[in-house]
Amino acid sequence: MVILNNDRKIILTALKNGYHLTEEALKILRTSEDPIGTLNTVIDYVRKMDPYRMVLDAELIGSVVQQTRKLQEYTPVREEEPPTYAYPEVQVIQHYPEDVMIEGHLEEFYRYFHSRYMKLRKILEDRGIKFIPLSEIIKMKKDQDAPAAVMVLDRRDTEKALLLKCEDPSASATVLVPKKTGDVLAKAEMVLVDCVVGMRLRKVNDTILVQDIIQPDVPINQKRPSSGPDMYVCLISDVHIGSKNFRKDLFESFLDWINRSRDGEVKRIGCIVLCGDLVDGVGVYPGQEKELEVISVNEQFSIAAKILTEVPKHIELVYLPGNHEPVRKALPQPPVPEVYKKILENERKLKFVGNPAKILIGDRLLHLYHGQSLDDLIQMLPSVSYSTLRENIGNVLEAMLHVRHLAPCYGQNTPILPLDSDPLVIEDVPDILCTGHVHVAGVKSYKGVLLINSGCWQEQTSFQQSAGLNPTVGTAVLVNLADMSAKLKFFS
Ligand SMILES: [Fe+2]
Repeated sequence: MVILNNDRKIILTALKNGYHLTEEALKILRTSEDPIGTLNTVIDYVRKMDPYRMVLDAELIGSVVQQTRKLQEYTPVREEEPPTYAYPEVQVIQHYPEDVMIEGHLEEFYRYFHSRYMKLRKILEDRGIKFIPLSEIIKMKKDQDAPAAVMVLDRRDTEKALLLKCEDPSASATVLVPKKTGDVLAKAEMVLVDCVVGMRLRKVNDTILVQDIIQPDVPINQKRPSSGPDMYVCLISDVHIGSKNFRKDLFESFLDWINRSRDGEVKRIGCIVLCGDLVDGVGVYPGQEKELEVISVNEQFSIAAKILTEVPKHIELVYLPGNHEPVRKALPQPPVPEVYKKILENERKLKFVGNPAKILIGDRLLHLYHGQSLDDLIQMLPSVSYSTLRENIGNVLEAMLHVRHLAPCYGQNTPILPLDSDPLVIEDVPDILCTGHVHVAGVKSYKGVLLINSGCWQEQTSFQQSAGLNPTVGTAVLVNLADMSAKLKFFS
């Protein structure tokens, strides 16, 4: 019993630090004089030397234990502080500029999901796990076990077990998580359909039991907090110009703050991100015309253009579409069409990107995504609802990082274009993941990644009222790129 408690302490210490322990690694630590001390030494070593690793195996633990003396003498090389400079260029790293077309064939969907599977499998393999095909797991002898990378197609709850229908390119199989296995069941309950996870599977008679589950997740961000540019970025979204509920008065307070604040941090804003739904659009949902003050999209963009002239010229404005912009609804969305770009640029220059998009400012990588799939995640995740979103928005964004995908659940409320390469897999870990869409502001840090939803500038709509969603109206998030601190600003 004492040994079991010690094991639990070791496993929990690893998990709290973001690492997964193999059974063999646990065996080595168990025999160590100071298991937790040894584990902490290994974790320190891995963070410095192999930051993308998430699995601690026996080989690593053995090698670090042998090098303990060297490790104690190890002094990290301190790099020189970068020179201070202001307003580096905002570089667009990736977005989807062309309105790509699909034929609508079944093969396109097959290729899309295969791409999703392979990208997420690679993320798992980069942690040092060697997976074997599901077809070989099915043929395993009794009591053998092995790891597999699978896409979860369906989940079914029974009295005694959770059944997960899984697939890889070689085969499909239903695997079973007994309800008496507390830790594994807890992990299984966080697994979303259409996501790819690593599983350690054991053959017991004709049944395949799940012994462990590893999410793709993100490694701890190792960038030095002070390595970013001496500049602030301001994140806003969901302005909804044209809606009767647009709070022009609050947006004017925001513009006044940008222009007239004597605050040093406001003077160092070099970029504002408009993270979708700048305008309310037309015909976005049935009966929208009753909630529109401006019933022409062109006119909505003309008003937006005039409002945005008040943003100081030295500030780069990055604009991506949301579900209210007049562009294709399926992800990835292209930037707004030329006709609207021209209206906006009559008054002021903007940087137009698609949705999602990646931008680089100095060495800070920002993933910008309007966030259409947040609606799906709110429905799928346990303990999250629209009425509790103010407390939970950070947890919903964190779930995207767990599964390394911006729109994990296919076929719900988020249309996805089945491209040959899935653009929604979070392949490179951002410093900031910025979203909007649900109109609730929140900031959270997860493993060194800043998760931000920037709120809105539109009063509660009738739909939000019926869903119990209480928006945070008149909010912006100010991020210091030098030290990655973030502040939520409220305007009245
Ligand atoms: Fe919106």
